[in-house]
Amino acid sequence: MTILVTGGAGYIGSHTCVELLKTSYDIIILDNISNSKKESVDRIKELGGRDLKFYEGDILDRATLDGIFTENKVDAVIHFAALKAVGESTQIPLTYYDNNVSGTINLCKAMAAAGCKKIVFSSSATVYGSENISPLREDMPLGKATNPYGTTKMFIEQILQDIYTADNSWSISLLRYFNTVGAHKSGRIGENPNGEPNNLMPYITQVAVGKRPFLTVHGSNYDTPDGTGVRDYIHVVDLAMGHISALDKVLQSPGLDIYNLGTGKGYSVLDVIAAFEKASGVKINYKIAERRTGDIATCYADPGKAFEQLGWKAVRGIDEMCEDSWRWQSQNPEGY
Ligand code: NAD
Ligand code: UD1
Repeated sequence: MTILVTGGAGYIGSHTCVELLKTSYDIIILDNISNSKKESVDRIKELGGRDLKFYEGDILDRATLDGIFTENKVDAVIHFAALKAVGESTQIPLTYYDNNVSGTINLCKAMAAAGCKKIVFSSSATVYGSENISPLREDMPLGKATNPYGTTKMFIEQILQDIYTADNSWSISLLRYFNTVGAHKSGRIGENPNGEPNNLMPYITQVAVGKRPFLTVHGSNYDTPDGTGVRDYIHVVDLAMGHISALDKVLQSPGLDIYNLGTGKGYSVLDVIAAFEKASGVKINYKIAERRTGDIATCYADPGKAFEQLGWKAVRGIDEMCEDSWRWQSQNPEGY
């Protein structure tokens, strides 16, 4: 069977493609390389041990999509392609709505025209908003996103639900990721942020490698055990395996399912710093500062549904996440 992976050259996509190449699925990557490098596609092939098809193109370009569906018999799509920088999305919201929402609509139209109605979608824990109390469960009411990026994920979830309501021969899996960190064991692929990282782990690794002088800890007066924000960090390879489990289900039978992909454990910012220092042997300079606008105190998953229905659970702990993030960063200080 052949799987189209949009955004497959990116961070989570590349790790998922490596795991897909170890199964019997053939893969096609479509990526416009707006937030990745072509080098990652070569490394996916190297780590996966076999070939794949790569199209450099945009999900906003219907002709490109139609060409892919005409040239290949695509059985299902894993849809990672999106812009994901929260701060940037507040500056250029139209670009975010266009790329993420219009891009997904375009993709779904091309899929329907080709008779391919199976899709696994990258959603985010951000859809739970700030009011729900962790552990977060899939049946909780959605919150209000605090930024346009988060709103694109809510809109796309709704659009996919409406598509399924209108035509229940679709098979759709909405995967709500928690905080993805770590890298492939080889140190050959990993997260490669453009410019100054927004997220905690790439910031820590850039401080460790000497690219940034210190980490700013955003707030130490939250209602958490040590006052810093608590999140559910998940290893990217565990997340990749979650996609394969979701894909297997999507291919079996029509339906719409929503799954949290998280570990169910929360770690504070100071816990992550301590775990990273232990894993790397490098001291992380940090300064405590004000809270970051839009942040919440605590966010972690109830991952039970994915285990019950997909048989999937995260198995890599915080130490392994830190070791693997560090190996990637120290072996590739400038990224790809
Ligand atoms: P990433 O930026 O590394 O990967 C996204 C890929 O999509 C990039 O390679 C980019 O070039 C490509 N892309 C973007 N717009 C495109 C377009 N119009 N056409 C073709 N390709 C396009 O990001 P990631 O961290 O791997 O995230 C993958 C998905 O998971 C995204 O949808 C993101 O919103 C979602 N997500 C990520 C996290 C996280 O912690 N990283 C958390 C929740 C959800
Ligand atoms: C953020 C996004 C979320 C997105 C997720 C993964 C916001 C409000 N949310 O989640 O939409 O899905 O990334 O891409 O931006 N921290 C520091 N110093 C730093 C960076 C982070 O102290 O330099 C703290 C944060 O305050 C938070 C924790 O580390 O407590 C994790 O932050 P981050 O990695 O940015 O993820 P989220 O904010 O959870």
